[in-house]
Amino acid sequence: MELEIRSGASGTLRYVLDSVLRRRPPIRYVGPDPKNFSSVVLISPIWVYRLAGPMRSFIVNRGADLARLGLISVMGSRGAANAVAEVDHLMGRAPILTAAFTTREVDDGSYAARLEAFGKAVRSAGVDAEAVRPKTWSSQEG
Ligand SMILES: Cc1cc2nc3c(=O)[nH]c(=O)nc-3n(C[C@H](O)[C@H](O)[C@H](O)COP(=O)(O)O)c2cc1C
Repeated sequence: MELEIRSGASGTLRYVLDSVLRRRPPIRYVGPDPKNFSSVVLISPIWVYRLAGPMRSFIVNRGADLARLGLISVMGSRGAANAVAEVDHLMGRAPILTAAFTTREVDDGSYAARLEAFGKAVRSAGVDAEAVRPKTWSSQEG
């Protein structure tokens, strides 16, 4: 959860600046402790071709607690490959599996089969699994 409320034009401007400047906005995480899980899948929107700022903050704050990490990006059309590269950079290791879904795929339900396959793959991936590069799982992302 972000600590600053974003609404209207000024909120959107902050999204944009956070992304462009790779800022780490303050967040308050209220979910379960990621240390208790052998695999964690992060789901984040893409803003201005980059990882959304609050997810950047979460990874910086809790990266050491994330064991096997899967990353799912949701976007209009492009930018997921940049988010994967940034997570790799921030954590010093690549996510074991990545996928990208467009808002259109989410809205029309066509994401479901690929999401299910992603979930099964994360579950069956070994600790030493090779990183699967975004092309493997993304639909349109270049
Ligand atoms: C400020 C802003 C910047 C965005 N930039 C991109 C972008 O660069 N590439 C893209 O494919 N989608 C972009 N989008 C679309 C979002 O990634 C997409 O709508 C996503 O589903 C948003 O998820 P949310 O509604 O959970 O925030 C942007 C959306 C916003 C609000």
